[in-house]
Amino acid sequence: MGKILVTGASGHLGRKTLDHLLKRLPATQLAGLARDPAKAQDLAGKGIDIRKGDYFEYDSLLKAFEGVDKVMLIATHGFTDRNTQHYNVITAARQAGVKHVAYTSIVRKEGSDFVLPEGTETDIFGEQTLKASGLTYTLVRHPPFMEVLQFFIGEKAYEAGVRVPAGSGKAAPATRDDLAEAQAVILSAEGHENKTYTLGFSELASSEDIASALSEIHGKKVPYVTISEQQYIDN
Ligand SMILES: NC(=O)c1ccc[n+]([C@@H]2O[C@H](COP(=O)([O-])OP(=O)(O)OC[C@H]3O[C@@H](n4cnc5c(N)ncnc54)[C@H](OP(=O)(O)O)[C@@H]3O)[C@@H](O)[C@H]2O)c1
Repeated sequence: MGKILVTGASGHLGRKTLDHLLKRLPATQLAGLARDPAKAQDLAGKGIDIRKGDYFEYDSLLKAFEGVDKVMLIATHGFTDRNTQHYNVITAARQAGVKHVAYTSIVRKEGSDFVLPEGTETDIFGEQTLKASGLTYTLVRHPPFMEVLQFFIGEKAYEAGVRVPAGSGKAAPATRDDLAEAQAVILSAEGHENKTYTLGFSELASSEDIASALSEIHGKKVPYVTISEQQYIDN
């Protein structure tokens, strides 16, 4: 049987996914991809085969995917030509004989024509490339990570309030650790072939709910203010 390889092994989500896989499978069945293997030394220490590869270097991916059955493609950073990188991973996986690729994208409302540049746009490209590749696929759509909420609401929310152009829209932020565990289940068990999952915490929260939670933690009212998209960009 071939190995399960998780990309982004030096990053938060990839590392946690491998840690959760280790609870389910022996290390000998697992591999991680890192462009700098030294950054994933902790995983190598646990017996995981860390392979060197860069999404921009096609041949490095071909080599890294030797003897691999399943690849978990952790999406790359925004604003770095994501399409080329994801295309390379999917194409190299197919050429190397990988059977199944799972890909992380971001939740979006079915039927919505809203396009988040560098977000939805590249996610749709990645999802369609994978589906068109003929490989068995699993699409894993993520909610906002709980750990990066401050990135969306601003680091000065206690003083300035939660100022976002979100109206009464809701999302279901979840921790990377929970999302990684779900990915480990998808990768280690049967039944997730050619499926699309939208992951998230069991409860939805609006930006107003987030402001209320922050008020409680802070012991002082943190207001929620809906602002325009342009004001948000200007902030
Ligand atoms: N849902 C959300 O709220 C949310 C928020 C932010 C990001 N995201 C997306 O989720 C992904 C995973 O999140 P994370 O927190 O785990 O991010 P992270 O810690 O920054 O990890 C990203 C991983 O991608 C690797 N990578 C980047 N460019 C590469 C390349 N050219 N070749 C090979 N590997 C490359 C990085 O390697 P190095 O260590 O070498 O840089 C790192 O291991 C992000 O990359 C982004 O697409 C989602």
